[in-house]
Amino acid sequence: MSRSVTRVLFVCLGNICRSPSAQGVFEARLRERGLQSGYQVDSAGTGGYHEGEPPDRRATAAARQRGYDLSAQRARAVRDSDFTEFDLILAMDQSNLDNLLARAPAAARSRIRLFMSVAPELPQEVPDPYFGGEQGFEQVLDMLETAADAWLDVSVSIQYAGPE
Ligand code: 4NP
Repeated sequence: MSRSVTRVLFVCLGNICRSPSAQGVFEARLRERGLQSGYQVDSAGTGGYHEGEPPDRRATAAARQRGYDLSAQRARAVRDSDFTEFDLILAMDQSNLDNLLARAPAAARSRIRLFMSVAPELPQEVPDPYFGGEQGFEQVLDMLETAADAWLDVSVSIQYAGPE
């Protein structure tokens, strides 16, 4: 059965750097396109080390400089119900993807993708900026902006509420 709202979950490891940034960029793009009422977005981590924490302050600062507000987000771990509640689950790197696919019920696997898969001209993994410098956060945002636009440009790809 199709729903009028498309639910998209962004997933990284800690849910404090890449996936909250992806959510913030995607939310901003939805607002710019007047599409926010058609989507529900969230983010989560394959690890739960930072449960309840706000995004990394470097991610928050880099995002704010580009006009993205991450301040309301709090980290959480992926939960089993995510695999039935979300229409599209977008992993930031191959390790996140492998982890999700190993956990997901078979019926959910086709709804789990690499976030960068829609931008085949770019590297397919969003690099983890956590242990690096500020520049890593800029590179991450550059990639996320390109992929967020690409997902929304190919809107047929994201209208994913029904069986293939
Ligand atoms: P994220 O980055 O997966 O983009 O949120 C990380 C944040 C924290 C850790 C690893 C990656 N950590 O090991 O705590």
